Amino acid sequence: MDITIILAAGEGTRMKSNKSKVLHKLLNHDILEYVVDAANISDNAKTIVIAGENEKQIKEKFGNLIIKRQHIGEQYPYGTGYAVSLAIEEIEDNDNVVVLNGDIPLLTRESLLEFIKLHKDNNNSASVLSTILDDPTTYGRIVRENNEFEKIVEEKDANCDVKKIKEINTGIYAFRGKDLKEALSSLNTQNSQGELYLTDCIEIIKNNLKKVGCYTFYDPNEFYGINNKYELSRAEIIMQERINKKFMIDGVIMHNPSMIRIDKDAKIGKDTEIYPGACILGKSIIGENCIIKGSSRIDESIIEDNVIIDNSVIEKSHVESGVDIGPFSHLRPKAHLKENVHIGNFVEVKNAIVGENTKAGHLAYIGDADLGKNINVGCGVIFVNYDGKFKHRSTIEDGAFIGSNANIVAPVHVEKEGYIAAGSTITNDVGSGMLSIERASQKNIEGYVEKKKKRDKLKEEK
Ligand code: UD1
Ligand code: CA
Repeated sequence: MDITIILAAGEGTRMKSNKSKVLHKLLNHDILEYVVDAANISDNAKTIVIAGENEKQIKEKFGNLIIKRQHIGEQYPYGTGYAVSLAIEEIEDNDNVVVLNGDIPLLTRESLLEFIKLHKDNNNSASVLSTILDDPTTYGRIVRENNEFEKIVEEKDANCDVKKIKEINTGIYAFRGKDLKEALSSLNTQNSQGELYLTDCIEIIKNNLKKVGCYTFYDPNEFYGINNKYELSRAEIIMQERINKKFMIDGVIMHNPSMIRIDKDAKIGKDTEIYPGACILGKSIIGENCIIKGSSRIDESIIEDNVIIDNSVIEKSHVESGVDIGPFSHLRPKAHLKENVHIGNFVEVKNAIVGENTKAGHLAYIGDADLGKNINVGCGVIFVNYDGKFKHRSTIEDGAFIGSNANIVAPVHVEKEGYIAAGSTITNDVGSGMLSIERASQKNIEGYVEKKKKRDKLKEEK
């Protein structure tokens, strides 16, 4: 059986955070989520996560995995070797055990599978995945003799010669179950950190005259380990570049992609053009030939073809084809804009259906409403949906005209081609084809200004 053990209990002190290191977000997903994805190496593989103080959150987020608790504190041993030993009862002698650090989210499943194949094909007792870094500082170094793997020496235990070595341990290992269990039982804490190092297991297995392999993979970006917030930001840049490149190869046009942030789970159709500052989050689906400008944020939404979005925020909403939105509009959850709707400057839509060709060009709030086709929503219109206690819904039928600055106090039903005069506060239903006007009639007072001037003059003379 294949077993993958992911180490995620470390205190992550270098992160200087109240939050668990592996639960920090990398492009909106937990660091650990990427590692769990990559570790999904075969259908019948078993994944075990070693959790620490973060056990509760890890259980909530990754409940389908086996989670072991590592207790942290002065009375307990510490170190990657101790962490692995907590999974020992899950390991059979003939299992293939892959061990991964929980802080290497850039690893790809392809590389991991290639590494496991090398381990199995060579019939190794233990294998290590290494890479070459220009700046190997902080990593464990691979010490070789006559090119043969000898041992791993941690930075803190390394002398000057070892520190010059550029081949590093990525924190990815494969073991034969029996040999791993034996080696774990003979680990000691004789090192500068007083920890049980998993890395010593490889040396122990080698010294037992078992076959050990160390395989060098040459894309160091994949093995980037995150220990502090600077490294987190570097990892984000690498991940974003990788994701954006894939979208571009698949036909998406990006202007200055370093300033475009797209979730790994999003889908985007070809010839859609994305400008700097745009952010596409979650499992959003975007069609073909769309234009997404400025700092638009699209979160968990469906955008069909030929949609233009300019500097707007769209959350959990559905936008059909030919719609144009913005600048500076906000679709809050459950907004559904049907074909060719136009939503202009500073318009907010929430939990509302807006029918084909309906237009709300400026400064409006459309909340909790069903709007039909070909409606004109004037400037400053407000759907008053809240009475202080309850939310209510209004319905506006096809072809209606809502004059500027009208208030539609829900629940109100405006039937087909109903007209609402500008400035009206509508609290009752409006029948088909009617004009509804609710405001004081206009009075024009002749000669008012002349009289006022005279009055003012008299006051000044006094
Ligand atoms: C480790 C390796 C080092 C390697 C580097 C690669 C050891 C001794 N050193 O160093 O050779 O170059 O990774 O990134 O393994 N963890 C636990 N329990 C513990 C300690 C750690 O679960 O008691 C977890 C951490 O949460 C982390 C992972 O193990 O996900 C690695 O621990 P970390 O402290 O980051 O090890 P490094 O010092 O980076
Ligand atoms: Ca690390």
